[in-house]
Amino acid sequence: HRHLLGLATYSAEEIQLILQTARQFREVLERPIRRVPTLRGVTVVNLFFEPSTRTRISFELAEKRLSADVVNFSAAGSSVVKGETLKDTARNLEAMKIDMVVIRHRSPGAAHFLTRCIEAVVINAGDGAHEHPTQALLDLLTISDHFPSFEGLNVSIIGDIAHSRVARSNIYGLKALGANVTLCGPRTLMPVGIEELGVRVTYRLEEALEGCDVAMALRLQLERQTAGLFPSLREYHERYGIKLEHLKRYPDLLVMHPGPVNRGVELASEVVDHERAIILDQVTNGVAVRMAVLYLLAGVPETVA
Ligand code: CP
Repeated sequence: HRHLLGLATYSAEEIQLILQTARQFREVLERPIRRVPTLRGVTVVNLFFEPSTRTRISFELAEKRLSADVVNFSAAGSSVVKGETLKDTARNLEAMKIDMVVIRHRSPGAAHFLTRCIEAVVINAGDGAHEHPTQALLDLLTISDHFPSFEGLNVSIIGDIAHSRVARSNIYGLKALGANVTLCGPRTLMPVGIEELGVRVTYRLEEALEGCDVAMALRLQLERQTAGLFPSLREYHERYGIKLEHLKRYPDLLVMHPGPVNRGVELASEVVDHERAIILDQVTNGVAVRMAVLYLLAGVPETVA
């Protein structure tokens, strides 16, 4: 692959290569000096049209740890607010000689569109409700730290599946690696026909948690809801929120969340802070995974470090 647009087209071997490379970079990040010269001379633009904390900062850290030249662009404060298009924005940036672009955009397909406008390598950092591949890769790396294999592992993805690029990328990645995926959430937030991706669908949280190894809770994406929220946040928490009682009932269950968390909605606040919630491990792994993706796509001749 020349770009990373989504995991839909990635094989188990390709995903495992990224995870293995990320593990090598994780060792680099444990050293007293957490910087390697691997991407010296490579210019990366972080092109963010939507808000982000984790993805934006961990890409920037990953690029800096690899010694790349980094430029950060956010739509607010740019000429996008004067009406400049994505295509013109990207072509103007490329005219300044850039090598790689990391893009987050509200439109599904924005990253793919960019590959047709510019020559630079494109990495999708989240395009609407389509894909968020580096999030899924860091989730897979985090899961792999707790289990010897993905084969037969039971992972439940719970919440706003309809609006979730994280769910989609994780479904592709987990299925490619041999995990069993269950989706759970209110009918209003479950896309019609999603079973075609080879997943089990349930509308009952208990069914999703029974026999489950990893529960991945998703944020209710209030900003993408067009017809008002149904059920209400209170009803949602009652029916689909993971609570302390669930962690007691299922003593081996691990809980993940891509962030940002609506505390008291997808997860009870005590669950967010529980030792079996591995949410901050996901964030830590994000830097190493993004270093791996940047390194593998940059096509530089050097070894990892
Ligand atoms: N998980 C995630 O994408 O978080 P941000 O929106 O803060 O980047």
